[in-house]
Amino acid sequence: MKRLAILGSTGSIGQNALAVVAEHPEEFQVVGLAAGKNIAVLAEQIRAVRPQRVSVQDEAVARELRDSLGGHPPVEILAGSEGAVAVAESPDADLVVSAMVGAVGLEPTLAALEAGKDVALANKESLVAAGPLMMAAVAANGATLIPVDSEHSAIFQALEGQAKDGVRRLWLTASGGPFRTWPREKLDAVTPDQALKHPNWAMGAKITIDSATMMNKALEVIEASMLFGLPVSQIEVFVHPQSIIHSLVEFVDGSVLAQLGWPDMRLPIAYALTYPRRLPLNGEPLDLGKVAQLTFERPDFERFPSLRLGYEAAETGGTMPAVLNAANEVAVAAFLAGRLPFPGIPRVVEQTMARHTPVPLENLTQVLAVNGWAREQAQILIDQGASAG
Ligand SMILES: NC(=O)c1ccc[n+]([C@@H]2O[C@H](COP(=O)([O-])OP(=O)(O)OC[C@H]3O[C@@H](n4cnc5c(N)ncnc54)[C@H](OP(=O)(O)O)[C@@H]3O)[C@@H](O)[C@H]2O)c1
Repeated sequence: MKRLAILGSTGSIGQNALAVVAEHPEEFQVVGLAAGKNIAVLAEQIRAVRPQRVSVQDEAVARELRDSLGGHPPVEILAGSEGAVAVAESPDADLVVSAMVGAVGLEPTLAALEAGKDVALANKESLVAAGPLMMAAVAANGATLIPVDSEHSAIFQALEGQAKDGVRRLWLTASGGPFRTWPREKLDAVTPDQALKHPNWAMGAKITIDSATMMNKALEVIEASMLFGLPVSQIEVFVHPQSIIHSLVEFVDGSVLAQLGWPDMRLPIAYALTYPRRLPLNGEPLDLGKVAQLTFERPDFERFPSLRLGYEAAETGGTMPAVLNAANEVAVAAFLAGRLPFPGIPRVVEQTMARHTPVPLENLTQVLAVNGWAREQAQILIDQGASAG
């Protein structure tokens, strides 16, 4: 049995991971869970999988959880980033599912890698903010980092058994989000409700907004560069509105390998949990006759400036990707709270990046400081209304 710790268990990925576990109870034991503040869902998960240790975002939430459980079942309840790190480092966990949202996932994910754990990575923000540190921890501690993001899982699968020098380019596919065909002028009036309606995937709020701005794809370009050790000049984005081809690898002989499937996160999650084995999963088999059409477009960098900013941050390197990520997190939260128009999201990111003098990435303390600085700057820009169009 593989022993799992799941960070972000109450979220969309966390709940899908637990659905895979529930489908294959003979394969997995859940030893740790970490979440933010959703006590109702977490308490239910604790009763269902009986972990030894859980963590929540702060002491107040931990007290609430203790009251709600009333000691049954017995479980160690921790809090804050130290709590999440303790869950990630659990000596009895073989694999850590990293599925918190945002840079808050960085410390526990890095701790898991430093403890030599295998990590199934959904939390792309950690790899964007501190990719070189995480990849160094993988190499130094014999850990394995297995992507959960469907695009990176597709590439990971297409690269199985291939020599790295045979790769010419990676092609990341993007759905294009709900505003793919909207005229630019209409984007000013986009509401959170409209942006939260993703055409193909049911996901958490932050990644759904990132998909609508295409910042999600920008983060994924950086994630792919880190995971597969290629410069962003060898990573291309194609809009593929059906979300059936999850990504592709082009080799030096002109061959292109792709991975296909319905948009269902249980597939890449299950593959990451049991890699290199595959588990049978309930669900409708892919029917290309029913899909009928697979189409592709080049992305519109004018309509979606976030994508351009992602490439620029990656090319600058050092601390710049951490700034891009932090500013985006603050801008997305402001948009969801009705304090920033939709096109203001990339404007805040661009203006925060313009205020930053990048330096080489050195250590976690520095990344956390840069993350904090960029969050503050982005907030100032939003408060001053400087990002208005
Ligand atoms: N959803 C997808 O299909 C998908 C696909 C590919 C990649 N990803 C990536 O996976 C990650 C998770 O996405 P998601 O869609 O699952 O997000 P989500 O549904 O919003 O869930 C986020 C999780 O993070 C927890 N969390 C938030 N703040 C926290 C804090 N301060 N301390 C501890 N835990 C905290 C939440 O806990 P509470 O809810 O208890 O507060 C929740 O468990 C993101 O990095 C996303 O980009 C997601």
